[in-house]
Amino acid sequence: MKLEQEIDKRRTFAIISHPDAGKTTLTEKLLLFGGAIQTAGAVKSNKITKTAASDFMEIEKQRGISVATSVMSFEYKGTRVNLLDTPGHKDFAEDTYRTLTAVDSVILVIDCVKGVEEQTEKLMEVCRMRNTPVIVFINKMDREGSNPFDLLDEIEQKLKIKVRPLSWPINIGAQFKGVYNLYDKSLNLFSANKTKISADVVAISDLGEDALDDLVGKKDADQLRDDVELIGGVYDTFKPDIYLEGHLAPVFFGSAVNNFGVKELLETFIRIAPHPIARNTDTRLVKPDEEDFSGFIFKIHANLDPKHRDRIAFLRICSGKFERNKFFTHVRLGKEIRFSNPYSFLAQDKSVVEEAFPGDVVGLYDTGNFKIGDTLTEGEKLMYKGIPSFSPELFKEVINSDPMKSKQLEKGIEQLSDEGVAQLFRINPGNRKIIGTVGELQFEVIQYRLLNEYGAACKFQPLNFYKACWITSDDEKVLADFIQFKTSNIAYDKDNNPVFFAESSWILDTSIEKYPKLKFHFTSEFKMEAAV
Ligand code: G4P
Repeated sequence: MKLEQEIDKRRTFAIISHPDAGKTTLTEKLLLFGGAIQTAGAVKSNKITKTAASDFMEIEKQRGISVATSVMSFEYKGTRVNLLDTPGHKDFAEDTYRTLTAVDSVILVIDCVKGVEEQTEKLMEVCRMRNTPVIVFINKMDREGSNPFDLLDEIEQKLKIKVRPLSWPINIGAQFKGVYNLYDKSLNLFSANKTKISADVVAISDLGEDALDDLVGKKDADQLRDDVELIGGVYDTFKPDIYLEGHLAPVFFGSAVNNFGVKELLETFIRIAPHPIARNTDTRLVKPDEEDFSGFIFKIHANLDPKHRDRIAFLRICSGKFERNKFFTHVRLGKEIRFSNPYSFLAQDKSVVEEAFPGDVVGLYDTGNFKIGDTLTEGEKLMYKGIPSFSPELFKEVINSDPMKSKQLEKGIEQLSDEGVAQLFRINPGNRKIIGTVGELQFEVIQYRLLNEYGAACKFQPLNFYKACWITSDDEKVLADFIQFKTSNIAYDKDNNPVFFAESSWILDTSIEKYPKLKFHFTSEFKMEAAV
């Protein structure tokens, strides 16, 4: 098959949601439809159970499972679907943000009872940063949720994206009767059934037909007629181009646990979702159909067995063909590397892959060569853009508990921050180390891993900062003056970029106001912008 055809048949995406909205359930149902698994419950997702909230070892064990389910690939009607899994636990949100840099589109799951939740908003912000196309799946329609029009308003308002329903529910909760597919004008009748994967679909080309009243009852049939008329008046017709630009989200309704609405979602997804497209690097735009291979590392997973220090680096292929045992250039190190055992993932099975194409993800055994964001090419010196660090929200100073092991501690912290477990900053006086994370759990994981993998014991001293943001200015003097004036609030990241640690939102806001010539960045992406 030609490279263009390989690209054309691939859809690489992630499912995102606030915990509990149904991401795991939907993932499993998609795999069932895709034939990648045979029975429900076969996929151990990397969902972290709530009871484990304080037991980080258990959490790491559960996270270990996620290597196998990091990428789930299956073929559906001639399309190769690569589904990248994301951690459900909010403390690992940064993992999810990075995974979003490796996909071409997302499916966002919303619980119809709870509506748009906190994590949904954050995830959507990340999608908006890179105009990732989004399809919305409103789940749990078998429960007493909000009115669908209100839900759509809430999505538009809170997620700042225009929506266009492509299916419409007939009633909700105990009275839920099914969905009307606005795209191909068919009626999909609901029956609560967790094992059946086919649905009763009836073509209804004209909503005026009496058959509709017979199927769902006169009251609901009339309501559907009114709703559909209103949809036509309120929402623009669906335009795939605007969806692909990331400005319009088509919406589906269903019930994942009952296999309802999932097939329509999958079929529309493969029809409209983007195949791999051109990506930006620090030097130029790289098209997927370029002959030369290129790709980047978006995730590194450590082996938790202390006897095996090896890690798995996840490579997203962006252009050309990846081949086993071929030498590629590790751009940051200026080193030629080849991979004798690259893995591809098919449901739960890992298997050695001979070749892979744009959109695919392969797992590479790594003995410490990779950092998140590293680029591999066939020699060209370019680095993929858009693997940012996000401004962390919790900060603690690292206190060495064993002065004899300070080297080990130093090395361990460096490596864990390369892996993306946390961000490391240094602050003066004394070059003290500050670790920033998005969740409390990450501190426990770091402490445990430092001790078990590096033999280094440490304690954490909580610091009362509200936010850390990178600062730059076109006027070097303004930057230098600010750094001098705020000395005790200035730290440096791994690449020695200055970072402002603000104690409160008020201090941050007034600083932004007071220093108009300074730029405050909430992700590290500005580094790449500056490099162009
Ligand atoms: P997550 O990965 O987004 O965190 O959510 P997950 O799929 O685990 O779903 C969270 C809960 O919601 C699960 O129930 C799941 O069965 C349920 N659920 C998913 N889809 C639907 C749906 O369409 N309708 C209804 N009524 N429930 C749904 P649980 O009790 O937490 O777990 P379980 O014991 O059922 O697995």
